[in-house]
Amino acid sequence: VDQTYIMVKPDGVQRGLVGEIISRFEKKGFKLTGLKLFQCSKELAEEHYKDLKQKPFFPAMIDYITSGPVVSMAWEGIGVVPSARKLIGATDPLQAEPGTIRGDLAVQRGRNVIHGSDSPENGQREIALWFKEGELCEWTPVQEPWLIE
Ligand code: GTP
Ligand code: MG
Repeated sequence: VDQTYIMVKPDGVQRGLVGEIISRFEKKGFKLTGLKLFQCSKELAEEHYKDLKQKPFFPAMIDYITSGPVVSMAWEGIGVVPSARKLIGATDPLQAEPGTIRGDLAVQRGRNVIHGSDSPENGQREIALWFKEGELCEWTPVQEPWLIE
Protein backbone atom coordinates (compact mmCIF):
# COMPACT_ATOMS: atom_id res chain seq x y z
CA VAL A 1 0.00 0.00 0.00
CA ASP A 2 1.27 3.48 -0.84
CA GLN A 3 2.34 6.03 1.74
CA THR A 4 2.81 9.76 1.47
CA TYR A 5 4.40 12.39 3.65
CA ILE A 6 2.15 15.41 4.21
CA MET A 7 3.28 18.47 6.13
CA VAL A 8 1.28 21.50 7.24
CA LYS A 9 3.84 24.29 6.85
CA PRO A 10 4.32 27.02 9.51
CA ASP A 11 1.81 29.37 7.84
CA GLY A 12 -0.87 26.66 7.98
CA VAL A 13 -0.20 26.11 11.68
CA GLN A 14 -0.17 29.85 12.46
CA ARG A 15 -3.38 30.40 10.51
CA GLY A 16 -5.24 27.66 12.36
CA LEU A 17 -5.67 25.42 9.30
CA VAL A 18 -4.37 22.16 10.81
CA GLY A 19 -7.83 20.75 11.61
CA GLU A 20 -9.25 21.71 8.23
CA ILE A 21 -6.34 20.06 6.40
CA ILE A 22 -6.38 16.84 8.43
CA SER A 23 -10.14 16.71 7.93
CA ARG A 24 -9.85 16.73 4.13
CA PHE A 25 -7.60 13.65 4.14
CA GLU A 26 -9.74 11.89 6.75
CA LYS A 27 -12.95 12.53 4.85
CA LYS A 28 -11.40 11.35 1.59
CA GLY A 29 -10.82 7.98 3.25
CA PHE A 30 -7.05 7.74 3.65
CA LYS A 31 -5.51 6.28 6.80
CA LEU A 32 -3.42 8.38 9.15
CA THR A 33 -0.37 6.42 10.34
CA GLY A 34 1.78 9.19 11.84
CA LEU A 35 1.18 12.68 13.28
CA LYS A 36 3.30 15.19 15.19
CA LEU A 37 3.77 18.92 15.76
CA PHE A 38 7.34 20.09 16.01
CA GLN A 39 9.91 22.71 15.12
CA CYS A 40 12.13 21.38 12.34
CA SER A 41 15.83 22.19 12.08
CA LYS A 42 17.52 23.94 9.16
CA GLU A 43 19.43 20.71 8.46
CA LEU A 44 16.23 18.65 8.18
CA ALA A 45 14.52 21.25 5.96
CA GLU A 46 17.57 21.37 3.66
CA GLU A 47 17.74 17.58 3.41
CA HIS A 48 14.01 17.40 2.66
CA TYR A 49 14.20 19.97 -0.15
CA LYS A 50 17.75 19.03 -1.32
CA ASP A 51 16.62 18.70 -4.98
CA LEU A 52 15.83 22.45 -4.97
CA LYS A 53 19.19 23.55 -3.53
CA GLN A 54 20.20 25.43 -6.71
CA LYS A 55 16.93 27.41 -6.96
CA PRO A 56 17.08 31.15 -6.23
CA PHE A 57 14.20 30.87 -3.72
CA PHE A 58 15.91 28.06 -1.74
CA PRO A 59 17.24 30.16 1.20
CA ALA A 60 13.89 31.98 1.61
CA MET A 61 12.07 28.65 1.42
CA ILE A 62 14.24 27.15 4.18
CA ASP A 63 13.61 30.24 6.35
CA TYR A 64 9.87 29.81 5.72
CA ILE A 65 9.78 26.09 6.59
CA THR A 66 11.81 26.64 9.78
CA SER A 67 9.93 29.80 10.86
CA GLY A 68 7.64 27.95 13.29
CA PRO A 69 6.26 24.53 14.11
CA VAL A 70 5.03 22.24 11.34
CA VAL A 71 2.62 19.32 11.50
CA SER A 72 4.12 16.15 10.02
CA MET A 73 1.80 13.40 8.84
CA ALA A 74 2.07 10.01 7.21
CA TRP A 75 -0.99 8.89 5.23
CA GLU A 76 -1.59 5.48 3.71
CA GLY A 77 -3.90 4.18 0.97
CA ILE A 78 -4.08 2.84 -2.55
CA GLY A 79 -2.97 5.66 -4.85
CA VAL A 80 -2.51 8.07 -1.94
CA VAL A 81 0.53 9.85 -3.45
CA PRO A 82 -1.04 11.23 -6.65
CA SER A 83 -4.43 11.65 -4.97
CA ALA A 84 -2.93 13.77 -2.17
CA ARG A 85 -1.21 15.95 -4.79
CA LYS A 86 -4.63 16.50 -6.40
CA LEU A 87 -6.23 17.35 -3.05
CA ILE A 88 -3.36 19.81 -2.39
CA GLY A 89 -3.47 21.52 -5.81
CA ALA A 90 -0.84 23.36 -7.87
CA THR A 91 2.33 24.77 -6.28
CA ASP A 92 1.16 28.34 -7.01
CA PRO A 93 -2.08 28.80 -5.04
CA LEU A 94 -3.35 31.33 -7.59
CA GLN A 95 -3.17 28.59 -10.23
CA ALA A 96 -4.58 25.89 -7.94
CA GLU A 97 -8.17 24.86 -8.66
CA PRO A 98 -10.89 25.92 -6.25
CA GLY A 99 -11.73 22.91 -4.11
CA THR A 100 -8.07 22.07 -3.57
CA ILE A 101 -6.33 22.95 -0.31
CA ARG A 102 -4.03 25.57 -1.87
CA GLY A 103 -6.80 26.77 -4.21
CA ASP A 104 -9.10 27.39 -1.26
CA LEU A 105 -6.69 28.48 1.46
CA ALA A 106 -3.64 30.30 0.05
CA VAL A 107 -2.50 33.05 -2.35
CA GLN A 108 1.31 32.70 -2.77
CA ARG A 109 3.83 30.02 -3.69
CA GLY A 110 6.06 31.13 -0.84
CA ARG A 111 3.18 30.62 1.66
CA ASN A 112 1.38 27.63 0.17
CA VAL A 113 0.37 25.99 3.48
CA ILE A 114 1.14 22.34 2.77
CA HIS A 115 3.63 19.85 1.36
CA GLY A 116 2.91 16.47 -0.25
CA SER A 117 5.36 13.87 -1.60
CA ASP A 118 5.63 13.83 -5.41
CA SER A 119 6.28 10.07 -5.88
CA PRO A 120 5.85 6.84 -3.88
CA GLU A 121 9.68 6.63 -3.61
CA ASN A 122 9.85 10.13 -2.15
CA GLY A 123 6.92 9.25 0.14
CA GLN A 124 9.04 6.45 1.65
CA ARG A 125 12.15 8.63 1.77
CA GLU A 126 10.38 11.56 3.44
CA ILE A 127 8.51 9.44 6.02
CA ALA A 128 11.85 7.86 6.98
CA LEU A 129 13.41 11.33 7.17
CA TRP A 130 10.70 13.05 9.27
CA PHE A 131 9.63 10.20 11.58
CA LYS A 132 11.65 8.14 14.03
CA GLU A 133 11.14 4.43 14.50
CA GLY A 134 8.17 3.83 16.79
CA GLU A 135 6.38 7.05 15.80
CA LEU A 136 4.23 5.36 13.14
CA CYS A 137 1.12 3.30 13.94
CA GLU A 138 -0.22 0.23 12.18
CA TRP A 139 -3.99 0.00 12.73
CA THR A 140 -7.22 -0.97 11.01
CA PRO A 141 -9.93 1.69 10.80
CA VAL A 142 -13.42 0.23 11.44
CA GLN A 143 -14.72 1.99 8.33
CA GLU A 144 -12.33 0.13 6.01
CA PRO A 145 -14.90 -2.36 4.58
CA TRP A 146 -17.05 0.68 3.67
CA LEU A 147 -14.19 2.32 1.78
CA ILE A 148 -12.49 -0.59 0.02
CA GLU A 149 -14.43 -3.43 -1.67
P1 GTP B 1 5.98 20.85 -1.95
O1 GTP B 1 4.80 19.94 -1.75
O2 GTP B 1 6.21 21.81 -0.83
O3 GTP B 1 7.23 20.05 -2.32
O4 GTP B 1 5.59 21.76 -3.21
P2 GTP B 1 5.49 21.35 -4.74
O5 GTP B 1 5.91 19.92 -4.92
O6 GTP B 1 4.16 21.76 -5.22
O7 GTP B 1 6.59 22.31 -5.39
P3 GTP B 1 8.19 22.13 -5.45
O8 GTP B 1 8.60 20.84 -4.85
O9 GTP B 1 8.62 22.44 -6.84
O10 GTP B 1 8.68 23.34 -4.52
C1 GTP B 1 8.78 23.18 -3.12
C2 GTP B 1 8.32 24.45 -2.45
O11 GTP B 1 9.20 25.51 -2.78
C3 GTP B 1 6.94 24.95 -2.88
O12 GTP B 1 5.89 24.34 -2.17
C4 GTP B 1 7.03 26.42 -2.56
O13 GTP B 1 6.78 26.67 -1.17
C5 GTP B 1 8.48 26.73 -2.86
N1 GTP B 1 8.59 27.25 -4.22
C6 GTP B 1 8.56 26.56 -5.39
N2 GTP B 1 8.71 27.39 -6.43
C7 GTP B 1 8.84 28.62 -5.91
C8 GTP B 1 9.04 29.92 -6.47
O14 GTP B 1 9.14 30.09 -7.68
N3 GTP B 1 9.12 30.96 -5.58
C9 GTP B 1 9.02 30.80 -4.24
N4 GTP B 1 9.12 31.85 -3.42
N5 GTP B 1 8.85 29.61 -3.68
C10 GTP B 1 8.75 28.54 -4.49
MG1 MG C 1 7.69 19.11 -4.11
